[in-house]
Amino acid sequence: MILLGIETSCDETAAAIVADGKTILASEVASQIDVHHLYGGVVPEIASRKHVENINPVVDTALKSADLTVAAIDGIAVTQGPGLVGALLVGFSFAKAFAFARDLPWVGVDHLVGHLNSVFLVPDPPPFPFIALLASGGHTAVYRVNDHTQTVLMGQTRDDAAGEAYDKVSKMLGLGYPGGRVIDDLAARGDPTRIRFPRTYLDKNGYDFSFSGIKTAVNRYVQTHADTVEAHLADVAAGFQAAVVEVLAYKVLHAAQASECRHIALVGGVAANHGLRKRVAQEAEPLGIKVHIPPPDLCGDNAAMIAAAGYHYLKKGERGGVNDDVYSKNRI
Ligand code: KG4
Ligand code: ZN
Repeated sequence: MILLGIETSCDETAAAIVADGKTILASEVASQIDVHHLYGGVVPEIASRKHVENINPVVDTALKSADLTVAAIDGIAVTQGPGLVGALLVGFSFAKAFAFARDLPWVGVDHLVGHLNSVFLVPDPPPFPFIALLASGGHTAVYRVNDHTQTVLMGQTRDDAAGEAYDKVSKMLGLGYPGGRVIDDLAARGDPTRIRFPRTYLDKNGYDFSFSGIKTAVNRYVQTHADTVEAHLADVAAGFQAAVVEVLAYKVLHAAQASECRHIALVGGVAANHGLRKRVAQEAEPLGIKVHIPPPDLCGDNAAMIAAAGYHYLKKGERGGVNDDVYSKNRI
């Protein structure tokens, strides 16, 4: 079954063509980063307008790069939520209209279920059940994944998401939006032991997270070292990254051990982080735990993961309805 996937929950307009929920024939992402960069974060109204401009060209490009015509598409999977409502509505309305015009089955997919299915787009995916850390700009949570569409939430952030902390710290350090990649690169050149930032909730509060304290601690450090901070920005980045990565790695590995799962997955934009990938791999090996991480382009928002998840809903016979609506808040 060849599906067209559509994703417009935030600031990427994405379309993908995926066969049988696992083989990517095309995956196109039109990023709006250059526009939102000017404002230091995503401006919802601008995001919606850009999605309207980008959606048709992105779908056309995906079809061309897969060397297919519309006639080859068997169904559509589209992000229904959570996300920015105005942004979601562009992709959701496009998908409904496309499906109606060509009399195709379609289904709305939860963005987070999409991220969790991104590990099935690479060879050697984890067997069920597995433990997943989903860390992105809007979400940070640990799940037990029982099936493609069935998850149990084990813990989540009580305030900021990990990616949000990266973005805010980047702004404080004058490094712009989005901050994850920039801080990750800078951290590789710094000394992670020079400044010790708090590891909030490290061995308490189950699998819940809190990243607002570390953000405040970095801010305080920057204020109190205003004269010297420029000279050792890499050490600040390395100290911040070491603290975030230690908590993320500790929680996901403990969740796997407590659940007696031998497979874990790291998904979402923050799973592209070099420090996190390395630390989890190093700590998992002696525990006999296998780590599954998609390549960086499938960690960030993309439509292939939406098509990967949508395939399993459509296969079960689930169908979107003309009155279905998008949603902004977490449902899983
Ligand atoms: O999954 P994603 O593309 O969008 C959401 O669903 O939020 O994640 C975007 C987030 C941003 O906060 C970005 O700064 C972060 O992922 N990110 C990273 C890295 N690359 C992207 N965070 C840490 N290290 C990275 N290398
Ligand atoms: Zn995402």
